[in-house]
Amino acid sequence: MVLRILVTGSQGQLGQCLQDVVLKNNSSIEFVFLSSSDLDITNTDQLENAFQTENFDFCVNCAAYTAVDVAEENQELAFKVNAEGVKNIAEVCKKHNTTLIHISTDFVFDGKNRTPYKETNTTTPINIYGESKLTGEIFLQDILDRYFIIRTSWLYSEYGHNFVKTMLRLFKEKDALNVVDDQIGSPTYAGDLAKFIYYIISSQSTNYGVYHFSNLGETSWFGFAKKIKELSKLHVKIIPIASSEFPTKAVRPNYSVLSTKKVEETFSYGLINWENSLQNMLAI
Ligand SMILES: NC(=O)c1ccc[n+]([C@@H]2O[C@H](COP(=O)([O-])OP(=O)(O)OC[C@H]3O[C@@H](n4cnc5c(N)ncnc54)[C@H](OP(=O)(O)O)[C@@H]3O)[C@@H](O)[C@H]2O)c1
Repeated sequence: MVLRILVTGSQGQLGQCLQDVVLKNNSSIEFVFLSSSDLDITNTDQLENAFQTENFDFCVNCAAYTAVDVAEENQELAFKVNAEGVKNIAEVCKKHNTTLIHISTDFVFDGKNRTPYKETNTTTPINIYGESKLTGEIFLQDILDRYFIIRTSWLYSEYGHNFVKTMLRLFKEKDALNVVDDQIGSPTYAGDLAKFIYYIISSQSTNYGVYHFSNLGETSWFGFAKKIKELSKLHVKIIPIASSEFPTKAVRPNYSVLSTKKVEETFSYGLINWENSLQNMLAI
């Protein structure tokens, strides 16, 4: 039987990376990619229509409200998409017997740990975006048994808005750049996460639950910027600064490294170091 997959938010960076992975694999799995204009996850009629036309084995929710700072002032929209929208998807998945693969974030944690966060660690978000994503996780788990919640961190890719693309642009525009050095995390190439999602689907995994997925290793935004500079061979002075010198509307966790042991052990899945993955991406 041919597997059928629905992907929401297909024009975001993860959605586009997943489209690339599907094209490269050239498999018999049938994917339907729907963008925000094709399917608004806050609209239950649109969701029901999408699920009525075909039977889906998996739904991959790449749709999210990801504007972390704007969310502080636009709480309603953040919760509408990241909490209510996820609840809507979970309900339609339950009705149509579809397994949901949902993406969440390292920002469900408060950043007080000094060792990588495990799936079992207490979630205490410190900004609206994190709260809205955690509420989505809770709604989903109340409704569904067959789900994968994959928390990831510091996503970047050749698509959309992300730190790597911003740095490459600023390196060309400026002679010197201040970058925060006291927030530690694991940069993650969205293409690697897309491959893992494809792996779950193609293996028809039933290892349901919450997972942490990131590239291996950890760094600060300053360390990340320095590596981008080194690999892109652009000339710019990068100056490390404290978060207090770069105030943002949303507070961010100081430390949000995720422990990927559960993914590695459950799926015998090999993860890539963040520096190697960045090098691969910049060489595309
Ligand atoms: N980016 C990160 O650093 C990061 C870190 C940790 C976790 N994550 C999580 O990883 C996932 C993928 O992130 P990403 O970076 O690929 O995000 P992204 O590039 O911002 O893409 C999100 C997509 O969702 C769509 N969308 C927004 N509201 C929608 C709605 N109501 N209905 C349907 N689609 C809607 C957006 O469409 P429009 O552009 O048309 O609004 C966009 O295409 C998200 O769940 C995010 O929370 C991201």
